[in-house]
Amino acid sequence: MKEQMNIVIAGHVDHGKSTIIGRMLADTKSLPEGKLEQVKANCKLNSKPFEYAFLLDALKDEQAQGITIDSARVFFKTEKRHYIIIDAPGHIEFLKNMVSGASRAEAGLLVIDAYEGIQENSRRHGYMLSMLGIKQIAILVNKMDLVNYDQKVYDAIVKEYREFLEKIDVEPKCFIPVSGREGDNITASINHMDWYQGDCLLDILDDFEKEKPDFKKPFRFPVQDVYKFTNKKDDRRIVAGNVESGSIKVGTEVVFYPSGKRSRIKSIEGFNIDPKETAYVGESAGFTLEEQIYVTRGDIMTNAAEIKPEVARRLRLNLFWMGKEPFVKNKDYFLKVGTAKVRCRLEEIHRLINASDLNSIQSEQVNRHDVAECTLQLNKAIAFDTVDKIATTSRFVIVDDYEIAGGGIIKEPLEDKLAWVRDKVILRNYKWEKSIITEDQRAEKYNQKSVMIILTGPQKVGKKEVAKSLEANLFNDGKWVYFLGIGNVLYGVDADIKKQDNTENRQEHLRRLSEVGHLLLDSGMILIVTAVELTQDDLEIIKTTIHPDKIKVVWVGDELTTDVSFDTKVPGLLDVEESVVKLKSMLQDNGFIYKPW
Ligand code: GTP
Ligand code: MG
Repeated sequence: MKEQMNIVIAGHVDHGKSTIIGRMLADTKSLPEGKLEQVKANCKLNSKPFEYAFLLDALKDEQAQGITIDSARVFFKTEKRHYIIIDAPGHIEFLKNMVSGASRAEAGLLVIDAYEGIQENSRRHGYMLSMLGIKQIAILVNKMDLVNYDQKVYDAIVKEYREFLEKIDVEPKCFIPVSGREGDNITASINHMDWYQGDCLLDILDDFEKEKPDFKKPFRFPVQDVYKFTNKKDDRRIVAGNVESGSIKVGTEVVFYPSGKRSRIKSIEGFNIDPKETAYVGESAGFTLEEQIYVTRGDIMTNAAEIKPEVARRLRLNLFWMGKEPFVKNKDYFLKVGTAKVRCRLEEIHRLINASDLNSIQSEQVNRHDVAECTLQLNKAIAFDTVDKIATTSRFVIVDDYEIAGGGIIKEPLEDKLAWVRDKVILRNYKWEKSIITEDQRAEKYNQKSVMIILTGPQKVGKKEVAKSLEANLFNDGKWVYFLGIGNVLYGVDADIKKQDNTENRQEHLRRLSEVGHLLLDSGMILIVTAVELTQDDLEIIKTTIHPDKIKVVWVGDELTTDVSFDTKVPGLLDVEESVVKLKSMLQDNGFIYKPW
């Protein structure tokens, strides 16, 4: 099979992208039989001049019949290889394409109108190409027919744009004077410019180098979903997604990040194909694992023998902002990297420039079209790579109010105050000796899913009363349940650190309490914990140690005295019975215990 290459085409509006694509389709005879004539005839009938760009529209209309084109991708081939040209009508589409992976480009074409000259987006798109790590770029100076094929006009544009590219450290592959309309230098057969003796566009495409085969890079598999086999006797799960980098064989030991959990590949299941031995970069795949572990969407599966990805909650990144609203501090956004989606906030802007004129800007916010180097805080840790290691798993987008508003690349992980807890958890998971009995088997046996219910609130509001009543109630239902006051671990588990009562010890207390909780949850238990006035920082420690899906926080009493975010609130001493009823139905509604009809 011929190799395939994805190429993105960008440029200022109306500078001729669609015309050039149409021309390439026509000149490589990639159009369906009779299409060109049909579109020409149609134009004549409606007495409007024929445009090569119409070919794309005509093909889009035929999309239903499933040929050559889908919304933004055009397919054609030369002697050498198959091409997918990605037409990115705007910044957002461009970023989506680059980050979603469906049509990630290996090279870029940048179109500049010779008559109109370099415009803002000519520069912005150039900047984005370089920021996203597309190193092979050819610049097409289009509409040369409109400037009488004048070399001076061409040279002036080349000089100006080259200076711009130098400032952002981009070495273009080449510049080509073309005319999409007349066909100059699209193929070698037409060229009205005897002063230009370089290659035509199609030769330049064939000349782009295929990136080093990605299957030699470290294996990266962002988990999209986990499916359960439908067969009753079969309790395996399929971990599904798309291989973003490298390759993996059946039998390989794998580690999931950010958790650090380990397992081994048991089988590779394709969609509608027989199981196979190896999965390669670019393929959609489903894996079954030797040992069942809890993984979720957003985790990255890696090869235990290869370099680890980064795990962090604070990131330094380069970002391009396109949102109508500026990117500001103290506001929640979502960061999407691979399949992970986490809440995030802008912490600090280190450098801010205008992507078009490259001037520095002094501002406390990132405005539309600005480029910023900044620090982002996430509300939980994610796994990723830095751009110098693996570009694909370093790319991100930022979502503001359901819309993509920015994107770019992660430059480096930064320290955060929970790194010390996380490092211990990753190591604990990595070293964990797994039992033969799976989480599902325990859940089935005990008729419940394990969960930690944390009751917190001021002194003397009835946390323990509610906790113990709930324990007794569930116990009488036959549940496997246990009450653990935070004080119960102070004198035993924490005996060595009990005395000094500073914040560091408080954090360590919480970490140990959570580790004890983790053990009990792993055994399948419902655990009820009480703690006085837990803060959000305290909760973060617990949520770093125990998977947040397995924690429910309950505020007891009327008065809110800390910043902790909770799932529900109960009256406590004022009505213990009602509190218990409410908590029980919370467990039922969340599927931790059976809900009777
Ligand atoms: P958008 O998708 O809207 O951003 O535009 P585009 O970059 O795809 O431009 P398109 O190909 O639609 O061309 C815009 C206009 O420029 C059309 O009217 C084309 O006929 C005209 N045009 C494109 N290439 C050439 C050229 O080489 N010479 C001349 N004279 N006109 C051209
Ligand atoms: Mg177009």
